[in-house]
Amino acid sequence: MIAITGIRALKDDEFNLIKDIIYKESGIHLSDMKRALVQSRVMKRLRELRIPNYEEYCSYLTGNYDVEIVNLINCITTNKTDFFREPRHFDFMREIALPEFERAGRKRIRIWSAGCSTGAEPYTIAITVAEYFQDRKMPDVRILATDIDTQVLRKAEAGIYGAGELANIDIDILRKYFKRGRGENAGMFKVKDAVRGMTTFGRLNLLDEAYPMKGSFDMIFCRNVIIYFDTASRKKLFDKFSGFLNDDGYLVMGHSETLTGLTSRFSFIGNTIYRKVI
Ligand SMILES: C[S@@+](CC[C@H](N)C(=O)[O-])C[C@H]1O[C@@H](n2cnc3c(N)ncnc32)[C@H](O)[C@@H]1O
Repeated sequence: MIAITGIRALKDDEFNLIKDIIYKESGIHLSDMKRALVQSRVMKRLRELRIPNYEEYCSYLTGNYDVEIVNLINCITTNKTDFFREPRHFDFMREIALPEFERAGRKRIRIWSAGCSTGAEPYTIAITVAEYFQDRKMPDVRILATDIDTQVLRKAEAGIYGAGELANIDIDILRKYFKRGRGENAGMFKVKDAVRGMTTFGRLNLLDEAYPMKGSFDMIFCRNVIIYFDTASRKKLFDKFSGFLNDDGYLVMGHSETLTGLTSRFSFIGNTIYRKVI
């Protein structure tokens, strides 16, 4: 058995190799301040692969690039999320955006959760839509949910959460949209088919030159994703988002994210929500 304890710290050349690869492949910019974080996250991969030190891991990474790059990205990304996180965005959907789409007589509503993590965001969007239309005839609503991290996508697709992950959800909403697990699944909750059926999940690197989707969206949620992107990557992304939005479409960003000084393709509405400028 290989002893993993007592591994020496990540050396400069190892950190730089990993940092450059992560930047090239995901746009995530890891400053020197993130060195301890990289070290502890990559340590997880050393344990899983039973590799005794970072030097050997770097050789393994370069020798098995196509396979390992996905695992490396999975362990570096920060996936923190929550149901009804930043609730003002869902108030905005209910009070402004959805009534607007309904008044316009939309037969189809398309929403994209870009950087969806384990699914709390797209399922919150779906629940907000279902609550808005209630028993009224609902248009054809589809929510596309994408992320670069294949591990979080697996969990999102399964739609199964522990009680602790659902702590923010009102009890009536929980009863209405989640099935309670029994027997060996006691304490777990599964998203009901009505909500699950509105969502489609897929892997997408937002840094890719071209995206495979056809058609455009009424709303794009890209919250708490661009924090690690540099200015050039952000600019490119907002231009792309503008191209993927309908003329009256909205872009919803995370609480600490701004488009100011990066693009003139959006106007600010409030609460980190932007509207496409035609
Ligand atoms: C902090 S989570 C935010 C989740 C959700 N949007 C929210 O606000 O609750 C950020 C997500 O962005 C994803 N991400 C990071 N870089 C990405 C990239 N280049 N392309 C697509 N997704 C990326 C991560 O894998 C992670 O799941």
